[in-house]
Amino acid sequence: MTVYSSNEAPVARGSRLAFHHGTLMAVSIHPFDTALGAEVRGLDLSASVDDSSFEIVRGAYEEHSLLLFRDQTLSPEQHIDFSRRFGALEIHVLDQWRHPEHPEILIVSNIKDKDRHIGVPHAGRYWHTDLSYMVAPSRGSLLYAIEIPEQNGRPLGDTRFASAVAAYEALPDEIKARIADLSATFSLAHHRSKLMADGADQSPLTPEQEVKVPTAVHKIVQVHPVTGRKCLFINEGHAVEILNVAPEESRELLDLLCRHVTKPEFVYRHQWRVGDLLMWDNVATQHIAAFDYALPQRRYLHRTTLEGVALA
Ligand code: OGA
Ligand code: MN
Repeated sequence: MTVYSSNEAPVARGSRLAFHHGTLMAVSIHPFDTALGAEVRGLDLSASVDDSSFEIVRGAYEEHSLLLFRDQTLSPEQHIDFSRRFGALEIHVLDQWRHPEHPEILIVSNIKDKDRHIGVPHAGRYWHTDLSYMVAPSRGSLLYAIEIPEQNGRPLGDTRFASAVAAYEALPDEIKARIADLSATFSLAHHRSKLMADGADQSPLTPEQEVKVPTAVHKIVQVHPVTGRKCLFINEGHAVEILNVAPEESRELLDLLCRHVTKPEFVYRHQWRVGDLLMWDNVATQHIAAFDYALPQRRYLHRTTLEGVALA
């Protein structure tokens, strides 16, 4: 590992030195061997992160779209404090699954208290990006693993992430031209109907929730609001139909683009460990969870969600 002194610290790669509890620590960025993602080492997120280390993290987030911080021990307050360094937090519309004392935290879990799910039981059942059904989809999500199911020492419930940037770049020119000005509708109610049609143990959104998240319209090709890179912004979980084309063409294009974006060459598969904090960009990536475990195997994570800006 290369170690730089702080005044020669490169913006995204490499390392810099920082004192933490009197110990010299070096923040370093280790890109994965995949289309997206990097591990950040040398940071204890339960303590406050100094500004120059934070700028390295922010630069790495822009460059790699997904960051992994291993071996963290975070209280809800510490998780929220670190998340807020990136901007304001969403209070998720699914109020039944927010943390009872910290509404900024959404609980993702298969655990039940009697008959009641204590967290979102089907988060990530289909490829999606968080809050793509809102006018201003999220800038990013930070998911912290507290309990991870396993079998014979092997973790279950992996999450796969696809790079919407690499997927866009790899599209044939003819398709790029065809979708350049197209928009699609995105809906959480549609997502819920899909889950129910697939037999998931779910009820429809309440009328109050439906009012808070009406159907949104977004362009299929987004210029990323921070990096300026073009992203293929369409996902099987929330996208309903492509506007201003015949219904068959909408179905055909949706199917083609959703299958394209999740091809293995654009994907990183995350195998969870307790103590992982994983953060991802909801415009530059999409994700899906594996449901290869069941109670009494328990899965329990905390998520914070960054506010985003209104997209085209
Ligand atoms: C989420 C999500 C997937 C998972 O929290 O946004 O999609 O693996 N989670 O829990
Ligand atoms: Mn998600």
